[in-house]
Amino acid sequence: MSVKPLRECGPAARIAVIAGDGIGKEVTPESVKAIRSAITSARRQIEFVEFDWGADKFLREGVSLPAGAVEMLANEFDAILFGALGDPRVPSNQHAADILLGLRFKLDLFVNARPVELFHDRLTPLRDRSANDIRFMVFRENTEGLYVGVGGFFKKDTPDEIAVQEDVNSRKGVERIIRHAFDYARRNQLKRVCMSDKSNAMNFAHDLWQRVFKQVLQEYPEIESRHLYIDTLAMEVVRDPRQFDVIVTCNLFGDIISDLGAQLAGGLGLAPSGNIHPGRTSLFEPVHGSAPNIAGKGIANPLGSILTSGMMLDFLGWKSEGDALRNAVRSALQENFVTPDLGGDKGTVEVGDWIAARVGSR
Ligand SMILES: NC(=O)c1ccc[n+]([C@@H]2O[C@H](COP(=O)([O-])OP(=O)(O)OC[C@H]3O[C@@H](n4cnc5c(N)ncnc54)[C@H](O)[C@@H]3O)[C@@H](O)[C@H]2O)c1
Repeated sequence: MSVKPLRECGPAARIAVIAGDGIGKEVTPESVKAIRSAITSARRQIEFVEFDWGADKFLREGVSLPAGAVEMLANEFDAILFGALGDPRVPSNQHAADILLGLRFKLDLFVNARPVELFHDRLTPLRDRSANDIRFMVFRENTEGLYVGVGGFFKKDTPDEIAVQEDVNSRKGVERIIRHAFDYARRNQLKRVCMSDKSNAMNFAHDLWQRVFKQVLQEYPEIESRHLYIDTLAMEVVRDPRQFDVIVTCNLFGDIISDLGAQLAGGLGLAPSGNIHPGRTSLFEPVHGSAPNIAGKGIANPLGSILTSGMMLDFLGWKSEGDALRNAVRSALQENFVTPDLGGDKGTVEVGDWIAARVGSR
């Protein structure tokens, strides 16, 4: 079955590259190198345009997300390859919030896709689990929930202080992420979708999730639909991850369960993600942050960013090139050609060069 891409860009694509801060600036060039290597052997064209948005620019010019940036990205680019943001010189993290949250919300990137895939048995902390046992996709709602910043303080900084944070769930928002999860399962011939909420305690917001889930699942009779409360899901993912193909949940729970998944599959250095609106400019970023504790040392693991690029190529409809990146990462892990966080002794550029060579020789 041929799988329709989420973005029809044809044989040529334009990619905005925002490497950001810290190790974002070290791992992103390795990703670009790997992509270039993957497409040279295919009849594809790709143009990368770099943007220097991040802490340096913010401190120098007071600019985080420049005026007109969102419209420019939406109109002129197919996708954004993102590194990481965060710098100890900007304790408020204002620039990161402006850029990353600004793009997520203003580009309406409602799908946060976080694949969990164990590439090598030795990388999981779970006993007696092998690579075939841990392979599922987490879809986190990315534009609503508890992260919309609706709320306030009452009697702030007094002993009687009250803080309120509202959980915002729209029918449209819930429906489109649940539908996306089912569509993904159908497109990829996966059998099971699990929706997770806390409807036993959150009896308004997650009642809506329940009702929408029951309505949408009717349209996908070939897919086994299941519901688990988030606390049960957290236990079950650890007890037996083989039960899951696709998980869909709200912003807060998705944030947590996908990090749990990342640890089951080798940790932060390996975890990719996509912030997606099907058909529109979407943003792809490794899950890790800017890691100031190792920035500048040349030892950051570039594999999370390279797997992220694989997701981006899939999104563009360039699946075989995406597979080439994933296969090269799998080989690097098998041959232990890895950075110190995975027990190796290689540097960021060394690993990046190795991946690019492996991809180019396929
Ligand atoms: N999406 C993003 O841009 C993003 C995400 C998370 C954190 N941050 C920001 O990054 C900064 C640092 O945050 P943090 O320390 O909590 O998280 P972090 O992910 O940057 O680092 C956590 C730990 O994992 C290690 N690590 C992370 N990525 C690695 C890699 N590729 N290779 C090897 N080791 C790696 C780090 O050295 C550190 O010990 C903060 O400013 C935070 O706000 C940004």
